[in-house]
Amino acid sequence: MNLDTYFSTPVWWDKLSVDVDAIFNFCHRLRQSNPLGSELSNVGGWQSKEFYYGDHPELTPLLDDILSRSNKCLSDFGYDAVNFETHMDNVWVNINKLSHFNKIHIHCSSFLSGAYYVTDSDAQIEFYRNFQEQYSIESLAPVLELNAINAPKFSYPARKNHLVMFPSWLPHSVEPNQQDIERISISFNIRIRKK
Ligand SMILES: [Fe+2]
Repeated sequence: MNLDTYFSTPVWWDKLSVDVDAIFNFCHRLRQSNPLGSELSNVGGWQSKEFYYGDHPELTPLLDDILSRSNKCLSDFGYDAVNFETHMDNVWVNINKLSHFNKIHIHCSSFLSGAYYVTDSDAQIEFYRNFQEQYSIESLAPVLELNAINAPKFSYPARKNHLVMFPSWLPHSVEPNQQDIERISISFNIRIRKK
């Protein structure tokens, strides 16, 4: 029998060609300038205060690249890309050391969220299906084989100089860092506005 699937969850990803070593140094300078940072979804680790496009010119090439890619997301959603455009909202840096992780969360009031990875790490970002839907699937019978229809979650590796973008409503978390290596990423929110 034929099978079609609908209501898909988009995740966009790509390898970038920005100067990741310069961004690595920027992240360390930022931490030195404010060692306390702030605490949101992170358990342990250091999260910078949020900042905005233009606050740190060192990141402008990266943020421009992300913004230009976000217009494809806008058109993939079928939105009116003639009269509406994406714009960068808040941005922040995350540095997770050994055993640090990020609790499951969503990003409110935003269209897209994402992470740009400054370092390689085995600690993956994990995305979750709506828990009520998952409750229904798993309550009816045992699931013997995971697939795109029944899977409760899926993961992406943190790969240096790679970008992952997803709808801001998609629940996600970051696995505990099992390596004694800093896991550095830059997170952001992107909104839609009328041109
Ligand atoms: Fe997040």
